[in-house]
Amino acid sequence: MTSTGGNETVSTSKTPAEPNTPAKEPRSFEDGELLLEVDGLGKHFPVTAGLLRRQVAAVKAVDGVSFSVRKGETLGLVGESGCGKSTTGRMIMRLLDPSFGKITFEGQDITRMSQGRLRPLRRDLQMIFQDPYSSLNPRKTVGAIVGAPFKLQNIEAKQGVKKAVQEILELVGLNPEHYNRYPHEFSGGQRQRIGIARTLALKPKLIIADEPVSALDVSVQAQVVNLLEDLQDELDLTYVVIAHDLSVVRHISDRVAVMYLGKIVEVADRADLYERPMHPYTNALLSAVPIPDPAERGERKRIRLQGDVPSPLDPPPACRFHTRCWKAQEICKQVEPPLEELSPGHYAACHFPENTTVSATDAVAKARVSTAKAAADEPAE
Ligand SMILES: Nc1ncnc2c1ncn2[C@@H]1O[C@H](COP(=O)(O)OP(=O)(O)OP(=O)(O)O)[C@@H](O)[C@H]1O
Ligand code: SF4
Ligand SMILES: [Mg+2]
Repeated sequence: MTSTGGNETVSTSKTPAEPNTPAKEPRSFEDGELLLEVDGLGKHFPVTAGLLRRQVAAVKAVDGVSFSVRKGETLGLVGESGCGKSTTGRMIMRLLDPSFGKITFEGQDITRMSQGRLRPLRRDLQMIFQDPYSSLNPRKTVGAIVGAPFKLQNIEAKQGVKKAVQEILELVGLNPEHYNRYPHEFSGGQRQRIGIARTLALKPKLIIADEPVSALDVSVQAQVVNLLEDLQDELDLTYVVIAHDLSVVRHISDRVAVMYLGKIVEVADRADLYERPMHPYTNALLSAVPIPDPAERGERKRIRLQGDVPSPLDPPPACRFHTRCWKAQEICKQVEPPLEELSPGHYAACHFPENTTVSATDAVAKARVSTAKAAADEPAE
């Protein structure tokens, strides 16, 4: 169990595998199964004003998220635009300093590690960015781009850097002869392959792929997703795939974590999450995903969420989803629902979860007791 600075908890232990929960939960760093653990991680961006640039508010981009990633798995991180997915990914990569919480990679606490000490770890931790156009330097050749990590890390490839780079180009489905070409000579899909080749140069252990296909034509999205899957098998990679598109995440993930306004509201094995979503927000997101089979289409009702996502400058209290939730009750506005394991390996943060026999969580019961107590303690007028 990992606590998240008081407001959110994800247990990383799981009861023995049940028929409907095939993906095994990560256990510990000691047994070599766990690769990454994020515990109560948060990022508040200060908002400043005036000549002295005094802090007047904070954008609570990520507000205490916890999850683990085991070796060889793919964890999908989904949610609407602005919910804090990229900020979470960037903190794990240490491209952003967390405001609070802890990041453990292979048993090492890297939360506040200096850039100097992080340098050797940069080999193991890599990121694929959304936009293959802006993430590649247009003035550098493909050879220079994909070979750059060798230089940065002072690594000599046995067969020479050029040969090593050409092998990687081949691995990602590009022609090794393209070594001397420039990014503008490639299509969007090919450019994303160059970006992937660059991350693979030093054989990383964990790749954070932030919207790896959303800037690509639908026709090439599947090719790049398939490539990521093939590379995972071949090179024993572990992925955290960030996307707002639930179809992409469904295709590639073993487990899925759903984010809403800086918090994780549900985590489950992929099949479990898509077939039995427990959090109303997940249910609403899934109801908007087009179903190709017309026979199945009729069964699912589209849930239209009312209103916009509230501002992370001033998120709603208690359950952050209560301003848009059709099931919201008084308690949802007063008590934050903890992320609880409601069935083996399936966690949801909701007082009135769906698709479960649990009608109201322990937290509700406890909260009701404390609300009742508080009311009883209040002096009569
Ligand atoms: N450097 C920054 N300074 C201030 N606010 C920021 C900064 N970076 C991100 N934010 C804010 O933090 C929130 C989360 O942003 P983030 O980019 O992590 O969202 P996201 O889930 O990746 O969204 P998208 O799907 O659009 O990429 C947003 O409200 C964003 O405006
Ligand atoms: S806690 Fe209440 S408001 Fe929040 S998702 Fe559950 S039912 Fe909706
Ligand atoms: Mg993003």
